[in-house]
Amino acid sequence: MNILSNSKISASILAADHSQLGRDIMAAQDSGCDEFHFDVMDGYFTPEISMGPIILNSIRDIIKIPIEVHLMVKKPSRFIDAFSKIGVDFITFHIESEDDVELTSKLIRKKNISVGLAKNPSTPVEEMYQYIDFLDRVLIMCVDPGFSGQKFGHENLASIRDINNYIKNHNLENIVDLSVDGGVNSQTIMECKKAGAKTFVSGSSIFWSGDIKSNLKKIMNSK
Ligand code: DX5
Ligand code: ZN
Repeated sequence: MNILSNSKISASILAADHSQLGRDIMAAQDSGCDEFHFDVMDGYFTPEISMGPIILNSIRDIIKIPIEVHLMVKKPSRFIDAFSKIGVDFITFHIESEDDVELTSKLIRKKNISVGLAKNPSTPVEEMYQYIDFLDRVLIMCVDPGFSGQKFGHENLASIRDINNYIKNHNLENIVDLSVDGGVNSQTIMECKKAGAKTFVSGSSIFWSGDIKSNLKKIMNSK
């Protein structure tokens, strides 16, 4: 059993080799990753654009573990229908988006999809508290959204600690998952775990160099 038992590793497909997407996804899945994370960027909320429902649809059948769609877009509610038709387990959108958080959460829930709310490093974590009853997951970004391979921002550990305390104090530990995205590697994962995170999204550390299986093993067994 690895030291992250009770924790989940989610592989960010954005960082995979897109000329060999199927191969990389199978390798991560067969090496014991718990979830896939699918990053959607619209070029407005983020400087870059990435991928959308058409790409997810093309790889959907080979994925046998839960999928989270991370919507880094201005208007997340526009995409709920398309992703729900493909079949996903979580839709996570941003508190900084232009859509109403309560309404968007309810639209996602109506499709029987779990609801995640993400925040950027510059947004105070307390702004998430008012929405906690609508959520299945909170996602604390430790980099500015837009790219894989950025450096982990240690100042975000305080947000993880604070929302973990809030979740505990409201007896929501078994209801709201605490997830972290951006710069997670075999070193930073332990700091995030100590701060209370349970699900760890990792991209470049899994896919960018070396072998996917050993990269995942290293992350899962790091101290
Ligand atoms: C960044 C994305 C992340 C990214 C993570 O905007 O939301 O999911 O792919 O990649 P790493 O682990 O390389 O920071
Ligand atoms: Zn992401």
